[in-house]
Amino acid sequence: MIAPSARVHASADLEAGVSVGPGTSIWHRAQLRTGARIGAECVIGRDAFIDEGVTLGDRVKVQNGALVYHGVTVEDGVFIGPGAILTNDRFPRAITSSGDLARAEDWTVSPITLRRGCSIGAGAVVVAGIDVGSFATVGAGAVVTRPVADYALVVGNPARRLGWVCACGLRLTGTDGSPAPADLEPGEDAFCVTCQRTYTYVPDAEALVERTGTDARPTKQGAPA
Ligand SMILES: CC(C)(COP(=O)(O)OP(=O)(O)OC[C@H]1O[C@@H](n2cnc3c(N)ncnc32)[C@H](O)[C@@H]1OP(=O)(O)O)[C@@H](O)C(=O)NCCC(=O)NCCS
Ligand SMILES: [Zn+2]
Repeated sequence: MIAPSARVHASADLEAGVSVGPGTSIWHRAQLRTGARIGAECVIGRDAFIDEGVTLGDRVKVQNGALVYHGVTVEDGVFIGPGAILTNDRFPRAITSSGDLARAEDWTVSPITLRRGCSIGAGAVVVAGIDVGSFATVGAGAVVTRPVADYALVVGNPARRLGWVCACGLRLTGTDGSPAPADLEPGEDAFCVTCQRTYTYVPDAEALVERTGTDARPTKQGAPA
């Protein structure tokens, strides 16, 4: 079902059984395969590919030419940069060991979940079976081979943690105002000088957790207000 308020360009290719939520825009030559479910207020860019059964939450942006394969789940507010590739087969082959064309039953889908609010940089590749944490950012051109923690910033091939980012997308700082290091100490805080959010590193989860309310005050001297 296509919501009446959705805008679908005439050149987009929507197969049977695709659902599109209210306020969503789908641009030129985007291809949405059968059973894809697109939430509300999403933007699907030119030449993007959304495979069979892929689910996108609300307010997701899929930029031009991004490829989102079967087995990928995209939570609300996720940004997928131009030309990014979300894969689904860890050990791909075109043919079986006897030389026949490999069919759906000859290979295993390794799912990916992109958690709420995360961003995948331009041209990045996420290897099948790897999740990207909430509000994490994957740098342009990265190849993600290991799970990415909430609020982590990862770059390179293979992607390694460079630091941390705020819900607003900007780099978090340490107490001295310089970018927070990749390896924070247990219980150490990181700050956003722009929107004043404070986060604490939780080693068990190997992730940052936002501190809210009265708990949000920095614990260390010299931290930004
Ligand atoms: C990762 C990113 C957020 C870092 O930005 P930043 O905090 O300003 O980082 P800096 O430019 O100060 O770079 C810090 C270091 O990381 C390296 N670096 C930055 N981005 C990188 C990337 N994508 N891949 C590999 N290394 C990267 C820099 O070369 C630098 O290394 P150095 O200290 O050895 O010189 C940014 O470079 C990026 O890739 N953003 C995504 C852009 C994108 O894809 N947008 C899509 C919409 S168009
Ligand atoms: Zn912020």
